[in-house]
Amino acid sequence: MLDTSTRISSQEAMDLESRHGAHNYHPLPVVLSKGEGVFLWSPEGKKYYDFLSAYSAVNQGHCHPRILTALNEQAQKLTLTSRAFYNDVLGPYEAYITKLLGYDKVLPMNTGVEGGETAVKLCRKWGYKVKGIPANQAKMIFVEGNFWGRTLGAISSSTDPSSFEGFGPYMPGYSIIPYNNLEALEEALKDPNVAGFMVEPIQGEAGVVVPDEGYLKKAYELCQKYNVLFVADEVQTGLSRTGKMLACDHEGFKPDILILGKALSGGVFPVSAVLSSDEVMLTIQPGEHGSTYGGNPLACAVAAEALQVLVDENLSENASRLGEIFRQKMSELIEKRPDLLTLVRGKGLLNAIVINDSEDSPTAWNICLQLAENGLLAKPTHGNIIRFAPPLVITEAQLEECCGIIEKTILEFQK
Ligand SMILES: Cc1ncc(COP(=O)(O)O)c(C=O)c1O
Repeated sequence: MLDTSTRISSQEAMDLESRHGAHNYHPLPVVLSKGEGVFLWSPEGKKYYDFLSAYSAVNQGHCHPRILTALNEQAQKLTLTSRAFYNDVLGPYEAYITKLLGYDKVLPMNTGVEGGETAVKLCRKWGYKVKGIPANQAKMIFVEGNFWGRTLGAISSSTDPSSFEGFGPYMPGYSIIPYNNLEALEEALKDPNVAGFMVEPIQGEAGVVVPDEGYLKKAYELCQKYNVLFVADEVQTGLSRTGKMLACDHEGFKPDILILGKALSGGVFPVSAVLSSDEVMLTIQPGEHGSTYGGNPLACAVAAEALQVLVDENLSENASRLGEIFRQKMSELIEKRPDLLTLVRGKGLLNAIVINDSEDSPTAWNICLQLAENGLLAKPTHGNIIRFAPPLVITEAQLEECCGIIEKTILEFQK
């Protein structure tokens, strides 16, 4: 067993990762050993505000006591049976999540990218069985700047060379159109072999890119017109992050297929889900798709509690209200440092500031280092953009303090 009773130093932790781990990430030089609510601590006891929330997985705050109780109680009873047998938690969880979100059926998986793969498979099956697309001709439409994970299926739709370069050959049957462009979408939808259109309501990894108001609803209506499934990848935007349970709720429509992940477990471990209608979901028959851990009782108990926490603690409302305050404060800050900042954008508590520098400049990285020094953790996306996404349990007073840290850091920052 790993001996974690004697704490290693931050330097030792970083050295061990560098020596023994693959170098597939470039973290900020900050080591964390404890989390509670909106706070994180280093092994040496330095306290930080978390303004990343593990890429929006920790919407409910670190180590939420109710989620941990659900985890611990279920862990003592039953953790995994596989789907070779029934378990007594999956059914109640499925009934709960489908009622909460208004869908006929759910297909449980683990990671967000598996949710995306599941959605694409559902589109293809539906395309053949219901829409009548000739065998092996089904197409999927994606948009430029999308990010839905690291499998071959996901990187095949990526327009970011660091995601796809050197990993070919790629998945056939994909077409990639500009984001936030309804003409391009309608043109692509005219192809009768298109089964699905998959889109993030706000592009998270691309730098919190918010489309024009009405784009999503109109895109959904176009999909209906051409008998194509609208797939919302709400792995990052869903579950109260943008100020509503789902980002699509802002435009008042229900996607044909909904993908959830990340905060579905409140950051406890990977739990994802795909929700849809009977018409779509029942195109997949026993043995045609699944995962050993998908729908395990531990995940079901954790996910049900994580969802109920969002509802009981009014985290959508909190994200919506505090998001307005945050963007207002950042707009004021931009006016004070127009040489350094150009723009703040986002919805709810999924926001980003754009740095007035080139994509390959070290400015955003250096600002994040300084923010960490001052007690707030954030990470650049794409070189010149810094995302700010605190746990949704943050209070107004805490948010004000964090805006103060950001302001101090920006005003003192020298390029
Ligand atoms: C919108 C979106 N979809 C899918 C994923 C993939 O999730 P995971 O890393 O759990 O596979 C991510 C991860 O950042 C994401 O932001």
